[in-house]
Amino acid sequence: MQSLYILLTLLIMDSSSSGFAFASSTSERDALLGAMVAWKVNFSSWVGDDPCINWQGVRCDSDGRVTYLNLSNTGIVGPVPQEIASLQDLTVLDLCNPRYNARSTMNAVSGDLSPLQGLIHLQNLNVSFNNITLSSFPSAIFNLTNLVSLRIDNLRIGGPLPKELVNLTKLEYMYLANNSLTGPIPIEYGRLMHLREISLWNNNLNSKIPPEFGNLTNLTYINFHECNLYGGLPPELGKCKKMRNISLYGNSLTGIVPDSWKNMTQLSVLWLHRNRLTKYLPEWLPSLPNLYNVSLDYNLFYGSVPNFSNASVKIMSITCNYFSGATPTGPANLVLNTSGNCFDPINNNEKIRCQQDYFDCGSFFNSLPNGACPRCPSSQSLEDANTCVCTLSTTGDIGGSTGGGSNRGKLIGSIVGVGGLLLVLASLFYVYRRYRKPVKQRYLGYASELWDGPEGIVRYNIQDIVAATDDFDKRHQIGVGGFGRVFHAVLGGREVAVKLAHTSSIQSTAGFRNELVLLSRLHHVNLVHLLGFCEAEGIQILVYEYMPNGNLHTMLFKNTITLDWLTRLDIALGIAHGLEYLHSFADPPVIHRDVKLSNVLLDDNLVAKLSDFGISKVAQEFETQMATRPAGTAGYIDPQYVLTEQLTSASDVYGFGMVLLELISGQKCIDNARADGQNLIEWVEFTLQTGKTESIVDPRLGDRYPKQIYQDIIRLALDCAAFKSGDRPSMKVVVAILDGCRWSVARDLNKMNHSESFQDNEHVDEEAVSCRVSRQESNNVLSESTLVPR
Ligand SMILES: Nc1ncnc2c1ncn2[C@@H]1O[C@H](COP(=O)(O)OP(=O)(O)OP(=O)(O)O)[C@@H](O)[C@H]1O
Ligand SMILES: *[C@@H]1O[C@H](CO)[C@@H](O)[C@H](O)[C@H]1NC(C)=O
Ligand SMILES: *[C@@H]1O[C@H](CO)[C@@H](O)[C@H](O)[C@H]1NC(C)=O
Ligand SMILES: *[C@@H]1O[C@H](CO)[C@@H](O)[C@H](O)[C@H]1NC(C)=O
Ligand SMILES: *[C@@H]1O[C@H](CO)[C@@H](O)[C@H](O)[C@H]1NC(C)=O
Ligand SMILES: *[C@@H]1O[C@H](CO)[C@@H](O)[C@H](O)[C@H]1NC(C)=O
Ligand SMILES: *[C@@H]1O[C@H](CO)[C@@H](O)[C@H](O)[C@H]1NC(C)=O
Ligand SMILES: *[C@@H]1O[C@H](CO)[C@@H](O)[C@H](O)[C@H]1NC(C)=O
Ligand SMILES: *[C@@H]1O[C@H](CO)[C@@H](O)[C@H](O)[C@H]1NC(C)=O
Ligand SMILES: *[C@@H]1O[C@H](CO)[C@@H](O)[C@H](O)[C@H]1NC(C)=O
Ligand SMILES: *[C@@H]1O[C@H](CO)[C@@H](O)[C@H](O)[C@H]1NC(C)=O
Ligand SMILES: *[C@@H]1O[C@H](CO)[C@@H](O)[C@H](O)[C@H]1NC(C)=O
Ligand SMILES: *[C@@H]1O[C@H](CO)[C@@H](O)[C@H](O)[C@H]1NC(C)=O
Ligand SMILES: [Mg+2]
Repeated sequence: MQSLYILLTLLIMDSSSSGFAFASSTSERDALLGAMVAWKVNFSSWVGDDPCINWQGVRCDSDGRVTYLNLSNTGIVGPVPQEIASLQDLTVLDLCNPRYNARSTMNAVSGDLSPLQGLIHLQNLNVSFNNITLSSFPSAIFNLTNLVSLRIDNLRIGGPLPKELVNLTKLEYMYLANNSLTGPIPIEYGRLMHLREISLWNNNLNSKIPPEFGNLTNLTYINFHECNLYGGLPPELGKCKKMRNISLYGNSLTGIVPDSWKNMTQLSVLWLHRNRLTKYLPEWLPSLPNLYNVSLDYNLFYGSVPNFSNASVKIMSITCNYFSGATPTGPANLVLNTSGNCFDPINNNEKIRCQQDYFDCGSFFNSLPNGACPRCPSSQSLEDANTCVCTLSTTGDIGGSTGGGSNRGKLIGSIVGVGGLLLVLASLFYVYRRYRKPVKQRYLGYASELWDGPEGIVRYNIQDIVAATDDFDKRHQIGVGGFGRVFHAVLGGREVAVKLAHTSSIQSTAGFRNELVLLSRLHHVNLVHLLGFCEAEGIQILVYEYMPNGNLHTMLFKNTITLDWLTRLDIALGIAHGLEYLHSFADPPVIHRDVKLSNVLLDDNLVAKLSDFGISKVAQEFETQMATRPAGTAGYIDPQYVLTEQLTSASDVYGFGMVLLELISGQKCIDNARADGQNLIEWVEFTLQTGKTESIVDPRLGDRYPKQIYQDIIRLALDCAAFKSGDRPSMKVVVAILDGCRWSVARDLNKMNHSESFQDNEHVDEEAVSCRVSRQESNNVLSESTLVPR
């Protein structure tokens, strides 16, 4: 009976599809039902033959064709199904999640939207806040030339901002914000004559604001905050007389507020905070008739502030600039925030604040000179001395403290410029020192600015690095590790090692920069020197000095050259010095966390230099939500870390002990084929029990090594690798002991000629030299107990 009913239903459906009234609705109904299944949802109202009757989110035109589909916030999951392509008359497609939605019904649309490419009647497309991750802009959009409103914001779309959008000539609303799009902003967008609102915030555009936008007479809203913009505010925008909202905060914009902007009489919101804008606050600004909320905080404005008594603006914030003269006041209904400037003291006891570290501003410097331009960021040079607009330097490598620009020679100018640069850095440090927790939040405010990097290291152009490595060609690759691939290159006439972070090693911009700031301050002969970095969309690169003799693991186990005993001693001492520096002299102290042979590199004189101190490690303190890379490498991991999950400087000492044993024995820390102990420490302890130092030392050394010294070092190494961290010496003590060994050897050799000692240790009186003979300076740290025979 039931099956007969279904058969009947099918027959009716079939006949109706050949009739006139539902000609297209039936196929559209099937398409919708198919899409519903594909999207893993079940809308209870989607029943019956005609989708035009009471189907949730569906509307039709008078011909019964589906023109409107609104599935916003209905829980659909997955790519746009191909079925949607048959809804040929669709003009509105809304698949978005509104900003504040109920979690349970959140959409998670994914994929490249390709089924939309034939829907050429679409006028309104909204897929905001979905699960779309793409490496380039979805090209299906380019066919939708009737679009009036395009919202594909708050997704994860990468690749360049497409010029092709200029063919969407009817576009009035362009919302592409909060993706990973790169710049520059195509000047062609200045031909989208109907554009009213454009929102690109939080993309890494690295762009100027095109003056062509001044042609867009209907423009009311531009939102480009945190887009890595540089250059000036285009005077041409003053032609946009309908402009209401301008949000450009958190960029690196330089120069003045153009006078032509006084023609934007509709302007209501003007957010320019956290840029490098300068010179005077325009007289006309506070009295623009429709002005409501203005923020100029954290810029380089100076001079006196115009009279606010006739201001029409309701909220005005000018904190953290260099304004001077009398502290401004305004009408009672004006909310005015002026702190962090250089205004005259209200009473004589008060100091002028801008000459001090003023907490809320991060850092302050001496007042600005009248007329001078603040120095440009080091990656930029002065484009126009009248407006103080800076532009990207075209001269190869970005960065360095020298960076060109003859106009910038003025002493005062440079003081001010350093101020500008430090405004970013100093606030980080200032807050970091005192308020470890809030630093992330504060620093993120700067995260998208065009950033010069810390003093002393270079910000490289990605183009230059690509050129120097033939686009990261295999032929340049010299290694690969947990962080990513390592390439050899020549940059600026210098041999360098380019470490390209693998996707899984990429940190947040703030995390990466925090780390660079800390790394750039570490300088020691036994640390591989960080020369610079490169930061681009999806790319994080560290550039180090190149170590022609590679890593110690290769040198020890894969090389035909045998390191002689004295070189090994010097290498051990070098590593110890490097670690002691990190533990005791770096500020803040750094735990290396990955001491092992492959992280010891050798320069052309076989001087040992530690690498990979800090990578993704120092920053973890700040970036708690960051995926934590496993600290350490099998064989070198401090057993206490396994027990307590706490890495301490004693963990580095443990790793050092292991390295020392490998260096002396020529054996690998873990060797499954090794009888009497797969772990090198076990093996050494076991072998020592049977009393043979000689059988521990690398047989390749023959008997050409000072026995007592090597025996002492083996004991030191075992102390370092003690199970309990409390039993391990500090690196200070280790250095003192090894220094003692080295000094004693040197005295006995009576000359430092390396090559002679290589083959020939007859000069060394084995019994006379011993690490226990220590230099006087070492006495205070050298505790005898560390060398008690085991
Ligand atoms: N500055 C440098 N100069 C010369 N070679 C280098 C330099 N830095 C790294 N290398 C080479 O690249 C290799 C890979 O380095 P990387 O640090 O990425 O991996 P690793 O040290 O083997 O392991 P890990 O990721 O655990 O540190 C090194 O072993 C070394 O041979
Ligand atoms: C959809 O839900 C209705 C009840 O609301 C149910 O009868 C039907 O079987 C469901 N369909 C699917 C495909 O789950
Ligand atoms: C879609 O529906 C939601 C909620 O019902 C509504 O807020 C939104 O404006 C609709 N979209 C369009 C394009 O009409
Ligand atoms: C979309 O545009 C491209 C390029 O203009 C064209 O090749 C393609 O046929 C178009 N697709 C559809 C379905 O119209
Ligand atoms: C999606 O965007 C359109 C404009 O393109 C808008 O009318 C609609 O309200 C948006 N949808 C939601 C749910 O906000
Ligand atoms: C988002 O998409 C990814 C694949 O692109 C998928 O693994 C993940 O489960 C999706 N998330 C949701 C909430 O559907
Ligand atoms: C930016 O987009 C991501 C999704 O890609 C979202 O999680 C995040 O909340 C958005 N940021 C803001 C400030 O809305
Ligand atoms: C715009 O469309 C025209 C004609 O379809 C095409 O020739 C042109 O290349 C398109 N422009 C861009 C920037 O894609
Ligand atoms: C600007 O907007 C007005 C209405 O607000 C409209 O009549 C006019 O055609 C628009 N101009 C352009 C170039 O789109
Ligand atoms: C648009 O603006 C640019 C620069 O502001 C100007 O050179 C150009 O002629 C303008 N184009 C049109 C069509 O007005
Ligand atoms: C412009 O600013 C006003 C005032 O804050 C605000 O109400 C309005 O939503 C903003 N316009 C847009 C498009 O965001
Ligand atoms: C403002 O607009 C008027 C006329 O529209 C024009 O003459 C004047 O030059 C503009 N002012 C500035 C400063 O650009
Ligand atoms: C005024 O603008 C600031 C941003 O500078 C914003 O934080 C504040 O909420 C705005 N106030 C109002 C009332 O719109
Ligand atoms: Mg390494």
